Formats: sequence, C-alpha cells, structure tokens
Amino acid sequence: MTSPVLLTGQVLSFSANPFLEGPSAAHLEPDGAVFLSQGRIMAIGPRAALRHAHPDVPVISYGQHLLTAGFVDAHVHYPQTAIIASWGKRLIDWLNTYTFPEEMRFGDPAYAAEISARYLDLVLAQGTTTVASYCTIHPESVDAFFSAAAARGMRVIAGKTCMDRDTAPEGLRDTAQSAYDQSKALIDRWHGKGRAGYAITPRFSPTSTPDQLHALGALWAEHPDCAMQTHLSEQTDEIAWVKSLYPEARDYLDTYERAGLIGAGAVFGHAIHLEPRERARLAETRSAVVHCPTSNTFIGSGLCDVAGLIAQGTPVGLATDTGGGSSFSMLRTMAAAYEVGQLRGRPLHASELVWLATEGSAAALRLSGTIGHMGVGAEADITVLDLASTPAIAQRHARANDFWEALFPTLMMGDDRAICATWVGGALRHSRPS
Ligand code: GUN
Ligand code: ZN
Repeated sequence: MTSPVLLTGQVLSFSANPFLEGPSAAHLEPDGAVFLSQGRIMAIGPRAALRHAHPDVPVISYGQHLLTAGFVDAHVHYPQTAIIASWGKRLIDWLNTYTFPEEMRFGDPAYAAEISARYLDLVLAQGTTTVASYCTIHPESVDAFFSAAAARGMRVIAGKTCMDRDTAPEGLRDTAQSAYDQSKALIDRWHGKGRAGYAITPRFSPTSTPDQLHALGALWAEHPDCAMQTHLSEQTDEIAWVKSLYPEARDYLDTYERAGLIGAGAVFGHAIHLEPRERARLAETRSAVVHCPTSNTFIGSGLCDVAGLIAQGTPVGLATDTGGGSSFSMLRTMAAAYEVGQLRGRPLHASELVWLATEGSAAALRLSGTIGHMGVGAEADITVLDLASTPAIAQRHARANDFWEALFPTLMMGDDRAICATWVGGALRHSRPS
C-alpha cells in the first residue's frame, strides 16, 4: 500500500456533466490540496484546511500547477505502438498494410512484453492513467499487457482481439470456439485481479463471422460485468463492406445487436456515420461511444457528432485510438476534439474537453466514481499539469482573464512537457524530466 501524502496546487473537479450543465459543472479550488491514502483520494479542499486536518502527512507542493483526475484513454491498440504515424492509407488498406503484419508479431511473449512496457511508459508520460486496449488474437499479448499494467499499478481494461473470417490474414485468425475458450480463460485469469478488467473484444463485424459474434455474445452474457469493446461505423467503405457481409442486418449496429453485443458495458469506437435507428438504439441501451478524433482525421474517417450523441443520452468517452490515432497524448486528443467540433459548428468548451478525457471515458467504461474522478473515494490517479509549460503556452497563459482561458492553451498546444507528474493509485509513477 502507498503511504499517505498531501498534494497541493489548483484542484479541478466535476460534480456534473458540462455538456448538460455548462462549465458550472466544474469546480476549481485555486489554493487547494488532495489527501491520498491507501491508493484512494480521502479528502479534497482548501490547502490550509487539509494541512490542518493532516499535520503529520508529507506535503508535495505543486505551486500553481493544476491537479486533475488522471486521463482515461478509452480506446487504444497497444500492439500498434511501433507503427503509429504510418503514411497514406485509409482504414482497410491501413489495416492490411501496416496493422496486421505488426500484430502477427505478438505471439512472441518477449515482443508483447517489450511493447506493453514501452506503451504504458509512453502514456504515463502523457498523464494517462487508464487505457482500454485491444490486444491481438494471441492470449500471450493479453498476459503481457495485464502484467505490465500490474507492475505499474495501473487500472486497465483489455482483451484478446477476436477475428475468425478470411477477411483477416492467415496467422491472425481464431475460430468462434477458440475465441470463446481463450477469452473465457483470460477472463478467469485476469478479470478483477488487482486493477485489471477484461473486455470481450471482437475486432469488428468485417473480421468476425456471425457465429463468432454470437459466441462472444454468449460469453458476455455469462460475464456481464466484463466490458465489450469493438468498432462501429468508422468509414463509409467499411459500412458498405458490412452491408455486403451481413445482408440480413438492418444496419451496422444490428450485426452486434443480433449477437447480444449491445447494452451497458458495450464500448463502440468511432461511431461516426450512424443511421437514426443506430443512434436511438445506442442511447436506449446505454451503449457507449468513444470519440477518436486524431484517428478520424489521420485515417480520413469523418467527424463524430459528440455533442449530439451526448444530448441523446449516449455515454461518450475520448480516446487516442493509438496507432490509428496520430498521438499518445490525451492533450493532443482534446485539441483534435475541439477542432472536429469546430468543423461540425459546435466548438467544445475546455470544461467539456477535460470532462470527456476523465469522467466521460470513465463512464463509458462503467467506472464512474472509481477512476477519472477527482472526488473522495475515487482511486488516486492524478495528473499534474503545468499550465505554462512552453514559452508559447506561457505567453498566452499570461494574458488569460479567467481559469478556462488559462487552461485552454495547454489543451490546444500542450504535450508531454505539460505533464509535471502522474500519480497512479496514490504512487508517483512519472515525473517530468528536469
Ligand atoms: N477497425 C478495425 N480494426 C481497427 C483498428 O485497428 N484501428 C482502427 N482505427 N479501426 C479499426
Ligand atoms: Zn480501434
């Protein structure tokens, strides 16, 4: 267990969703403190009051830096770490050219361990404390990832990516039965162990047979507290492909719905080109959507209607979609979400951007109040942001008239230099190199 500590700085928390309540859903304690003990947030408040209540606890002073809940990246592919920023392809060609050859390597436990460690250290340096990751079809890739996360004390969600159609290459295919059996064995080995959570993970309808989707739907029904993650309506070519492979389905979402793969705990990446029926069903069933803006511009997919989906009642989180996304940074991802909002005519407020990257992603993963939350009882995953981390940001920050103006330049222009420290489960796991 970690020792008690008091962190001081400006403290940002949310009591509601700013998409619904506006920026007043956020609260700033300008001269604040957070008391961490036993891996949890035990108290938040004015610095003087917390110091008085806990006079013997060591203090780490972050001055004017901002203490926020650690970032939650709700859709990533850790095995794509080494092929991030691969040039010039749209989704299907990008998968075949860059992704599948790289994913073939993850049957080797040593390589899976090397990339798991590399990936998690990269994201800790970006202030990300939880990710929901696809692994590869190899169970070894799942073991490696959960082991590396446990070594860092991180709460992660992950699962074996299942693909049994001949649309996936030889060497990256399982079967309906082996996907069920291997996923089940991994659930037994990892789900609920320490901070590990399992996600049943059919890659997407084009690489699964209906039999495989049904087998994974049955598995989810047997383990309803697992997450279920997959992709939905990312590119128009992909949607046409789904139509040709599933002529009986009403739409893309229906390929999952028929197999029992929608509902609370279902996490659909992208969800850009949705039919009205799909939007209604996502909201009715409390299925979540994860917005991946750097991926959507990088692969040329389109502009997700984040504000509209939230207004309809669909839980929405935010993600890098590494390595379809072009960055490991949730700050860069918030900037891209802002830009996508602008292109849709609905600029997202700074409070909405931070909420998506913390509370929104946590809610999409059914982890509200546990992670992504600066509040008493939450797990002590905290990111410390320097709001004047570069000369370019500092000079804009100096002109700010209020807190949101002081924060926004870091959301738009910040990178790992803005991440002063990353606390995970009450332990300091990353400090900015001096
Ligand atoms: N759709 C199916 N697999 C993938 C993937 O690995 N990345 C992205 N962006 N979309 C997908
Ligand atoms: Zn993805």
